[in-house]
Amino acid sequence: MTVLRTERLVLRPVTTADVEPLVEINADTEVMRYIGNGSPRTLAETRTAVEKMTRHWDEQGWGPFVVGLAGTGEPIGLAILAVPGFLPEILPAVEVGWRIGRNRWGRGYAPEAAAAVIRFAFEELGMERLVSCVHRDNTASVRVTEKLGMSLERETTVPDLEVPVKVYELRA
Ligand SMILES: CC(C)(COP(=O)(O)OP(=O)(O)OC[C@H]1O[C@@H](n2cnc3c(N)ncnc32)[C@H](O)[C@@H]1OP(=O)(O)O)[C@@H](O)C(=O)NCCC(=O)NCCS
Repeated sequence: MTVLRTERLVLRPVTTADVEPLVEINADTEVMRYIGNGSPRTLAETRTAVEKMTRHWDEQGWGPFVVGLAGTGEPIGLAILAVPGFLPEILPAVEVGWRIGRNRWGRGYAPEAAAAVIRFAFEELGMERLVSCVHRDNTASVRVTEKLGMSLERETTVPDLEVPVKVYELRA
């Protein structure tokens, strides 16, 4: 199993055992405000999403990670590696993404986790470029792209949702 460790965090592939902690995070309106259509997720939606994530790991050998605290392993969020199929104009591409439970915001966990995923993608998977799609108004997430040294590649609109996004990129 792929396990990534940082100073304060441990990242491992999402499994069906993660539905419970992720349901809580995904049901938080503040967390979900700038993700997808901006709505919190139901239990059924989170279950479906987790199934999709575990299938991705099975089929591709990479995918979204659960971010846990080092030591206890307590899940606090997601560090996502996925294909941004919702934005066909930037394909082919692989996206790195982040989502942290609200009670843990502001401690630099998202950039710390994302940096580990980026290193994994470049060094272990041999990827050459990663993107991040961020809602135009998501200033916290824009800050994370800055902390990671990503550059603004374009501003566009997600066609199905009509959501304005900034696309950032990072090259190996
Ligand atoms: C974006 C997100 C992952 C950042 O995670 P994090 O671990 O808090 O990241 P950081 O601690 O580095 O903080 C990044 C920025 O968030 C903002 N922030 C920090 N604490 C905050 C809080 N309590 N409330 C609101 N914003 C806060 C600040 O602008 C901060 O930048 P700064 O460090 O220059 O002050 C987190 O806010 C989150 O999960 N948001 C909801 C999900 C989401 O939008 N994901 C991104 C989709 S593209």
